[in-house]
Amino acid sequence: MVAQTIPVDDFDLVIIGGTGDLAKRKILPGLYRRMCAGQMPEGARIIAAARSDYSQKDFKDFVQEALESFVKSKKRNAEKIQNFLERLSYIKLDAMGEEGWKELAGSLRKDVVRAFYFSVGPSLFAPLAERLKLHKITDDASRIVVEKPFGRDLATAQALNDELANSFNENQIYRIDHYLGKETVQNLMALRFGNALFEPLWNAQHIDHVQITAAESLGVEGRGAYYDKSGAMRDMVQNHLMQLLCLTAMEPPTTFDAESVRNEKLKVIKALDPLDIEGGLVRGQYRADDKGQDYRTESGNPNSRTESFVAMKVEVSNWRWTGTPFYLRTGKKLRTRVSEIAIVFKDPPHSIFADSQDLKGNILTIRLQPDEGINLSMTIKEPGPGGMRLREVPLDMTFADALGEDIEDMPDAYERLIMDVIRGNQTLFMRGDEVEAAWAWIDPAIKAWEAGTAKPVEYDAGGNGPDDSLMLMHKDHRRWREISS
Ligand code: BG6
Repeated sequence: MVAQTIPVDDFDLVIIGGTGDLAKRKILPGLYRRMCAGQMPEGARIIAAARSDYSQKDFKDFVQEALESFVKSKKRNAEKIQNFLERLSYIKLDAMGEEGWKELAGSLRKDVVRAFYFSVGPSLFAPLAERLKLHKITDDASRIVVEKPFGRDLATAQALNDELANSFNENQIYRIDHYLGKETVQNLMALRFGNALFEPLWNAQHIDHVQITAAESLGVEGRGAYYDKSGAMRDMVQNHLMQLLCLTAMEPPTTFDAESVRNEKLKVIKALDPLDIEGGLVRGQYRADDKGQDYRTESGNPNSRTESFVAMKVEVSNWRWTGTPFYLRTGKKLRTRVSEIAIVFKDPPHSIFADSQDLKGNILTIRLQPDEGINLSMTIKEPGPGGMRLREVPLDMTFADALGEDIEDMPDAYERLIMDVIRGNQTLFMRGDEVEAAWAWIDPAIKAWEAGTAKPVEYDAGGNGPDDSLMLMHKDHRRWREISS
């Protein structure tokens, strides 16, 4: 039986920073796609609020342009675009001053879901929360959506949590990590908890190690000013990679509700051994590529010591995982863009075959991008006579092949998460204590780097990352999987 999509109530969604890059690339095109998929009720309205001096027409032109650039042409339909535009309005709003707040308060309807997406820099999160409350724009059922970065260390994350808590309850705060909205990330949970096959094997007795990779081929592009103050550890590890680690390592939650899932994720973070900063952590920075763009030039900081690559060995100290390390790596300007979780099972304990042919452990790969899917490497007999020759073949379920057309209509991470906000479902959002625990674990490494004088090791743009990262595996007699799509 195929379960029905959960319906969405009427809503007023206010996008603060509604003329910014995220709104243009992700939020507005995503909402349009959800409308086309029939998931937006007639009574859904979107209000963009920003500093820009836009008329209603200017804003609609901006949205039309965004749809043209970021929605596939076969999904664009003049009538539907018109319908979408009719749901939109624009308010000029000063996040730190008084302008626009009364108008915003007056434009919202009673008895519909009210959600406020803070698509602005983190310094505005707390002032916005305060003003929403001050102007009595929100009530106990309203929701706010907060983008990353959520703090830059434990202290700032705690301060931000405290500030938001002055105006909102935890069940009203939706901290976005867009990795949690990716189709395959949720499929990891379906795979683990919707099948009886894997769970009995999902432990240190059967799994040799786990590799989590988020490799990007692009550099820092136009985001140097932000990125250079952040680095891969804050930008990718503290949030995205740790979320993937938690979902892979957590115990089965009792139900798929927000509290059960988030409790289990938190337990994983609390079970992590402190990072071995000397022996289990590598940070790198990319050297020039063929266009001569090295990290320092691209970021605009000629003396930068910021890392554009991190690899680490992580130990989860609990009954399930002790003895099975998790290796995490992420970096910019690598060979190709690929994100995956690879569960490397132990080798068979004994070979019955002649010539001591190597029997390799099965590898279950959960591919987030590109070509989302799940792949299990299996050993089979090479077809034909001539003896028992073994070879590895993939048991491949690329979702696009397995599900055909449906994959085209899959919502992207942002649109899925926005609809969850409207539905009031926090399962795929980070809870305050989870974010703090992640910072508490990461902080000592970042502080040690910042206090020292050592530079990140260099790596070639377009490669697999620094040699030290290969060594990290090598000394454990293991190797990274190829970074290939
Ligand atoms: C963002 C980071 O959160 O995630 C970016 O700030 C990074 O630096 C991006 O490029 C990666 O996301 P995705 O979905 O392309 O893997």
